[in-house]
Amino acid sequence: MDDSGGHDVAGQHETEARQVGLGHPPNSDQPRPAGAVRVLMLGDVIGKPGRVALEGPLPELRHARGIDFVTANGETLAGGMGLTASTADALFAAGVDVVTSGNHIWDKREIYATLETEERILRPLNYGNHDVTGRGWGIFHAADGTELAVINLQGRTYMQPIDNPFTDADRLLEEGVEPLPAVRLVDFHCEITSEKNALGVYLDGRVSAVVGTHTHVVTADERILPGGTAYLTDVGMTGPRDSVIGIRSDDAIQKFITQMPKRFNLAEGAGQLSAVLLDIADDGRARRIQRLQIHDD
Ligand code: FE2
Repeated sequence: MDDSGGHDVAGQHETEARQVGLGHPPNSDQPRPAGAVRVLMLGDVIGKPGRVALEGPLPELRHARGIDFVTANGETLAGGMGLTASTADALFAAGVDVVTSGNHIWDKREIYATLETEERILRPLNYGNHDVTGRGWGIFHAADGTELAVINLQGRTYMQPIDNPFTDADRLLEEGVEPLPAVRLVDFHCEITSEKNALGVYLDGRVSAVVGTHTHVVTADERILPGGTAYLTDVGMTGPRDSVIGIRSDDAIQKFITQMPKRFNLAEGAGQLSAVLLDIADDGRARRIQRLQIHDD
């Protein structure tokens, strides 16, 4: 106990524990640097609980924070497996500008045709172009008029052995006929932290942000790399909080105990929204990165 400092160590500990419990620093509302575009990137939105956790706060959040552009990973939006046109439309209606994805984008076949026609839905770029539908990047306009590129990549460690995300990113960034806009956002859908970290460092100075998705668990390592790229290993899920990464806890625990085949059901109950807020200058360099989490209760 430290009386001299005028504060109570036990009380301080309680404050820290609460912040750790929430998994994010206080959601302050700093002014945006002049001329910077403000972007919100959301991780995996899981089923109806995720959609509800997003639909509630996002319109007001966009308005209150002056957010110009929103991405959300929708690969597990349709009942926890895949994406459909109607579930994607719900995200667009709530204020999402671009839906990114990952390995689960292929779970519902009905999305295949939509991937051909709906430019606002991306699948990972490094599935290649050999009979793979859809596109892995696109150029869009934010509400403030800023032109920006969104690039969706997927890792390979403990995942499908698709094309190399590092060299595919090189090809897109260095070998395109037209240079991409200065503001470039990367959703890196990837299993392990080291592969995500390596891609962030590899692309530092060439893109504005590398934000990880797929593990559903938010990490606390947000930073701006030396070259100006905002980086976060995983932005975490938007979905049912009382769960094991979105799945009913008893289903997941039984699977770990028995190792027998187990049908996973989506958890229900209170939701959480997990996102990262980015301010990016017109030279493409990030000026600010802040994790943001909103709970139902
Ligand atoms: Fe995934």
